[in-house]
Parts: sequence; C-alpha cells; structure tokens
Amino acid sequence: MSEKKKTMTGAFGVPVGNDLNSKTAGPRGPVLMEDVHLLEKLSHFDRERIPERVVHAKGAGAYGEFEVTADVSKYTCAKFLSRVGKKTDVFVRFSTVGGEMGSADAERDPRGFAVKFYTEEGNYDMTGNNTPVFFIRDPLKFPDFIHTQKRNPQTNLKDPDMFWDFLSLTPESMHQVTVLFSDRGTPATYRHMNGYSSHTYKWYNAKGEYFWVQYHFKTDQGIRNFTGQEATAMCAKDPDHATRDLFESIERGEYPSWTLEMQILIPEQARDFKWDIFDITKVWPHAEVPPIEVGKLTLNRNPVNYFAEVEQAAFNPSNFVPGIAASPDKMLQGRLFSYHDTHLHRLGPNYHLIPVNQPKHAPEVSYQRAGAMRTDDGGGSGPNYWPNSMGAPGPDATFDEPPIPLDGDGGRHEYAHPNDDFVQPGNLFREVMTSQDRANLIGNIVGHLGGAQKRLQLRQTALFYMADSEYGAGVAKGLGLNLDEVRSLAGMSQEDRVKATAR
Ligand code: NDP
Ligand code: HEM
Repeated sequence: MSEKKKTMTGAFGVPVGNDLNSKTAGPRGPVLMEDVHLLEKLSHFDRERIPERVVHAKGAGAYGEFEVTADVSKYTCAKFLSRVGKKTDVFVRFSTVGGEMGSADAERDPRGFAVKFYTEEGNYDMTGNNTPVFFIRDPLKFPDFIHTQKRNPQTNLKDPDMFWDFLSLTPESMHQVTVLFSDRGTPATYRHMNGYSSHTYKWYNAKGEYFWVQYHFKTDQGIRNFTGQEATAMCAKDPDHATRDLFESIERGEYPSWTLEMQILIPEQARDFKWDIFDITKVWPHAEVPPIEVGKLTLNRNPVNYFAEVEQAAFNPSNFVPGIAASPDKMLQGRLFSYHDTHLHRLGPNYHLIPVNQPKHAPEVSYQRAGAMRTDDGGGSGPNYWPNSMGAPGPDATFDEPPIPLDGDGGRHEYAHPNDDFVQPGNLFREVMTSQDRANLIGNIVGHLGGAQKRLQLRQTALFYMADSEYGAGVAKGLGLNLDEVRSLAGMSQEDRVKATAR
C-alpha cells in the first residue's frame, strides 16, 4: 500500500467515499446490489485464506545476513561462499511441524530451520530442522508418518496410538525419537536452538572435485530448553511465545546469530565410512569428522507484513546454486520433488514472483511463460522458446554440475544395516546426556507413551531397551510394564516382535 496516498481506494485505485455504511434502499431498506465497494470488500475477504502448509504450518520469520568467516573455496565454487568477509542477504523461517497454524509454539515437535540465501547466482535454500537426524529414511513413508502426527480421522484428536503404533513399527526412528523426547524437543525459543541440514549434501569446487557435507548452525545464544512441565505451562500461558520472542528481540536490537559449522568428507573417506552417509537417521561422529567453522548467520530485521513475507515464503530443498547440489539420500531425493509441487498448490505457478521468494540479486531469465498471477512483464516481447537465434540468453555449460559415478540395479532396496539403528541413540543416551537429561527423557516418554495401548507400550519400550538396557528399564518402570516381557520382546526379530504385540 502506498504510504503517501491520503484517500482510501478500492482495489483498482478509485477513491472510496464511505466505508462505514452499506448502500441501502432508504435508511431501513435492503442492501443494493450496486454497492460494488461492499461486494469487492466481502468477496476479497471470502478468499483471504490460502491453504496452510501441510506440515510446518505454524512459524515465524525474519531477515538478516550471512557472512563468510573461513576460506572454503577449495570445497565449493558457490560465489556467496567465495571469500572471507562476503555477506549475503537471507530470510529465515522457524516452525513447528505437526500442529496447525494456531497451535502452540511450545509443543513437543522438531523445529523447522529454513534459510533462504539471496545470492548473486540465484536463491539457495537450506531447509533444515533443529535435529541432526530424522524419523524415517525413505520418502515413501513420509505421508504416513505425518498422518500419525496429525489428528485421528474419527475423533479429530491427536492420538498416541497412531503415533506409537507407527514409530514402533519403524525402528529406524529410534534416534530421532530419543532427540525429540529429550528436552531438545521443547526448545525455550527459536533463538536458543541449533539448525542442521540433517541430510548430506554435495559441494563441488571449480575443478569439479566433489565433497559430502552436513550443515550445523550452532546458536550463539546457547542452547536453552524447556522441561516437559515448563513446555506444557507455556502452551497454556502463551501459545505464541517463540514467535513473540523472535519479533521482540529483533525489535529491541538484540539480533540472534548462529555460527555455521560444516562437516566435510572426501569421497574416498565416505566409501569406507562406518555409517551410511546417505542415511538421515545417522550423524557423523564429531571425533571422526570434526566440524569446521564457515560463517555467521545474523537476523536483524522483522518482516513488515506477516502474510506477505512469512506465510507466502516458499523454501525448496531443490533450490541450489552452482557449487552445491543434492546427494543420493533417498529422503532428500523425495524432497526435491515435494516442495515445488506443494508450492504450486499452495501459492500458484508464479510463486517465485512473490517478493520474499524472488531471486533478488539474480533476476529470472527463463522461457517459462504466463500462468496465474504473472505479475512481472512475463518476458515482454522477447522470444518464448529455446533454442532461438534472436540473441536472447541461453544456457552456459560452465554452470553444469560435474558428473559423479553411479551404479546398481534399479529396484526397491532396503537399507543394508538395520541393526545400526540402535547404536547412535544408545550413545546419545549413555555418553552425551547427563543423568538429569536421561531422567527428563524417560519422564517425557512415559507421559506420552502412557496414553497408548499397552501392547504398543511394550513394543516401543523393547526398542528403547535395544538402544540401552537402562533406557528401556527406565521407561518400563515408569509405565509399570513387566521388565522380563520387555527384555523378551527386545530379544526377538522385529517381525516376531510385531506378531507378539499384534491386536
Ligand atoms: P559428541 O560428544 O562429539 O557430540 C555430541 C553432541 O550431542 C553435542 O555436540 C551436541 O550437539 C549434542 N547434544 C547434546 N545434548 C543433546 C541432546 N540432549 N539431544 C541431542 N543432542 C544433544 O559425540 P558424537 O559426535 O560422537 O555424537 C554422539 C551423539 O550425539 C550422536 O549419536 C547423536 O545422537 C548426538 N549428536 C551428534 C551430532 C553430530 O553431528 N555428530 C549432532 C547433534 C547430536 P551440538 O553440538 O550440535 O549442539
Ligand atoms: C515443509 C514435505 C522431510 C524440513 C514441508 C512442506 C512439505 C514438506 C510438503 C510444506 C512446504 C510449504 O507448504 O511451504 C516433506 C517431505 C519430506 C520432508 C515429502 C520427506 C520425504 C523434511 C526433512 C526436513 C524438513 C527431513 C529437515 C531436515 C522442512 C521445513 C519446512 C518443511 C523446515 C518448513 C519450511 C518453511 O518454513 O516454509 N516439508 N518434508 N522436511 N519441511 Fe519438509
């Protein structure tokens, strides 16, 4: 809206004389059809809502900058990372995952951590979470997984049976379940949590050499979490507490920042690496792949209009710039499709023209044309096809991603190392958590799993036991389960365990 205009207008700029009284036939008569101002106002209002995001619906965002603090040009030719001191504009959106637009910020859930870099080579989106791992590692399972975190189709209530039935049938979720039910599942604010790419990505340099990398945005404010009780209290006291905290801290001039650290593996190291580096349920142990500091992300400007800038923001894991590319991680491959597709549904075919999504420092030069809400000149009078010989821009092979070797039989392959799924959560429980962390973790699980059917409690507790016997025993005790029964289930194959706990 123009700041300078003094008189209110309708959508097409015509001045409005009266915005308080509908036009009627006499003071007590019915409203006249010719009150086009009323009709315009009501019909626009009727269309004010767009579909909320199917996941990550509740969120908050802010603008800022990213500054490079170390020379990584030997790993990537991305221009925005090309020299120490280089700064790039960013927009960041934080979110919860399962709740609706009006849900509470303090709910137990992973938090989204999505960063849009407006680089001179186009937009690069790093769409991550505050957890270094995920519940599943195959995109085929994602819609089912999300359904179990949403509402029961009959009762329209969140349902612990759905939640734990699915997770206990999905043992690869153990690592993420352990993180989620630790106090890191209820961060005190968006400012006091880390952000991780979780996936492995590919960086490549100007010589075409490639590297496997993981991103860690470490909060400079320090990690601060709520206990389960504090989170529950905050949900009741202020459902928007994290949204408020982000906005108000930026207004006060307290700009939150994160240090970007990268884990980088050369392909030779990756081949013999103990863990499958394309399995998102695993981390790369710091001792084996020490993170190196690369830059600083600072948020310093609030959006002016939430709908225009935050609700309409569209992040896309397939928005890469030269020097950064996808890895074969199956989940990531699924995401390369899903985000653009959902944006077409949520925002329309020209969502890239919405200012927050526009490539600010690298205007679009393509032969894509027309479509709903084409708000620029649509390519003007230039050619709308390629190849053309009209002197219009064409591709430049120097920006092509270098090839990498691939082999194997096309098919629906399972992961080769399912027994690994309990090692890292066990290490987290035993070696990283303090005794207080462990007590809180077990208490948080008992509070939630206690709402599920007993057979599901047994099946899930056996998985905790497989990660660590003290972990399983603690949950069993809290739930009043027979430990011998849990132990016996833990000793079975997953197939037998499922049979033994069938309805
Ligand atoms: P390290 O001791 O080097 O790292 C442990 C890391 O665990 C810490 O750096 C911290 O990550 C994170 N952490 C601390 N408390 C919690 C918690 N309650 N919930 C989740 N994460 C926590 O060990 P390793 O690298 O060998 O990893 C051991 C375990 O730590 C892993 O199995 C994994 O569960 C967890 N972890 C590992 C990460 C990695 O990239 N290697 C990243 C995050 C967790 P941060 O410094 O990022 O805050
Ligand atoms: C949002 C799909 C896994 C992080 C979304 C959205 C979809 C989606 C459809 C809504 C986007 C929108 O409407 O704007 C999927 C699929 C996945 C997957 C199909 C797996 C196959 C992941 C993983 C992460 C992640 C592993 C983190 C590492 C996010 C974030 C958002 C999001 C942060 C919110 C972005 C924003 O703030 O607008 N996802 N997702 N997702 N997803 Fe995923």
